[in-house]
Amino acid sequence: MNRSASGDTSDTGLPHDEHEPTTKASDAKRSALGAARELLASAVITYGGEPVGTVAAVGGEEHLNYRECFTRDFAVSAAAALSRGDTVIVRNFLRLLSGLQARTHTLDCFEPGEGLMPASFCVAREGDTEAVVADFGQRAIASVAPVDAALWWLLTLRAHGRSSGDDTLAEEPSVRAAIERICNLYLAPRFETTPALLVPDGAYAVDRRLGVYGHPLDVQVLLFGALRAARDLLPYDHELQKPVWKRLTLLAHHVRTHYWLDDERLNVIYRRGVEEFGSGRANRFNIYADTIPTWVMKWMQESRGYFIGNLGPARMDFRFFSIGNLLSVTTGLATAAQTRTLLDTIRAHRDDLLGQVPMKLVFPAVKGKLWRWTTGSDPKNVAWSYHNGGNWPWLTWLLAGAARHGGNDDLELARSALASSATRLHRDDWPEYYDGPNGGLLGRQARLRQTWSAAGLLAADALLHDPEADDPFAFPFDQELEDDIVDLAEDPERLEQRSHRSKPLADEA
Ligand code: GLC
Repeated sequence: MNRSASGDTSDTGLPHDEHEPTTKASDAKRSALGAARELLASAVITYGGEPVGTVAAVGGEEHLNYRECFTRDFAVSAAAALSRGDTVIVRNFLRLLSGLQARTHTLDCFEPGEGLMPASFCVAREGDTEAVVADFGQRAIASVAPVDAALWWLLTLRAHGRSSGDDTLAEEPSVRAAIERICNLYLAPRFETTPALLVPDGAYAVDRRLGVYGHPLDVQVLLFGALRAARDLLPYDHELQKPVWKRLTLLAHHVRTHYWLDDERLNVIYRRGVEEFGSGRANRFNIYADTIPTWVMKWMQESRGYFIGNLGPARMDFRFFSIGNLLSVTTGLATAAQTRTLLDTIRAHRDDLLGQVPMKLVFPAVKGKLWRWTTGSDPKNVAWSYHNGGNWPWLTWLLAGAARHGGNDDLELARSALASSATRLHRDDWPEYYDGPNGGLLGRQARLRQTWSAAGLLAADALLHDPEADDPFAFPFDQELEDDIVDLAEDPERLEQRSHRSKPLADEA
């Protein structure tokens, strides 16, 4: 939807809310939003004269990859672009990526899984010739794998269709083939013992060692959303609909049941038996109560709850990971009750989670010996810095998206977070992240003029400006899905007995 066409625009070209009184604060916000738009415009990368993406940071150091277009970062640029009705750059990006998808030897002569999307790409120029160069982790610091890239690509593809009303892009043969390759790659069974995807360390926005290997919540929720997107993007009688549906319902059940932590569950875990064997085990992952950190005991009270960060043998990572928790609301992975509790918890722990510039990627930070073990003594990830307890402004977009599923208090929280961070980001020249327990310090090694900090602000503003307008990255409530999350977890064979998708897309809300 083209928002600027539906309302007044100020001299910055941004929607101007006529009900908002012109105060010093609203002027400051408007001028911050205007500057954010300018930054986003200057971040555009072209190929063959066409806009195809945005650099991670404008004017970043050449020897680092901040001059490349990151697939995950571009999802935020896409959200900002789509909110203004600019579909061209998004469509070009989506097409370009379907051509770049892994099919060749790139990793030490080893082929990345067919269907993997690049973490980033750049356009190399020599004289009159241009070439697109993709990175699947072979050039990245520590050679981390981009597990989340294809998931963000699917979410962006669906958002483009919803926003532009043009479903034909997903039907183009090269794009359809890219969707199919992603589904085949992510649904292929490997060493999983649950419906959760087994993920290497540093394989997404947290792209340095931080103990996010195994089954990190953030990637599970992205996978859930991406599978819902694939379901919408493929024809309803496509052969992949069934496996996609099966995995997404079982995954939702698994995360809702085993990652959810509230006061009641905490008490159960605290007193539960261990070393159980056989099929009727209550403590399925053999979690010892001694692993419950003191901060969780203090943090959790009646009517608080969130999804824990990771789950595996004898391991519950109790840290709060914002990407997974916020996206659980917009993708519909969280139940209505979980959404309510989660949003209440975010409000109750506003100082811990949002601080001065929203929002912590991970809370709390790991310190001391735990920092050594968890990060490999990484000086960039010292306590309360960068991924390890630092605050990332682009998350304001996800916060705004989640707040729209709550009440007025939640919208108010997101709006005030947006207003205060807008001025701060503008003043500080769009840093990548902030440091400190309250997120009040400009990140020690933060790049400035970081594109997704500006795009996140614009996308969040669009979502909060008109909470009734469609959020193209969000999913509507689906009763069929809700029923099957319960039914198929009891007996996955039931899928064979029913038509997995009862209605074509056009019939859906
Ligand atoms: C850093 C971040 C990563 C981001 C990239 C580009 O590597 O950790 O999440 O995508 O910068 O902004």
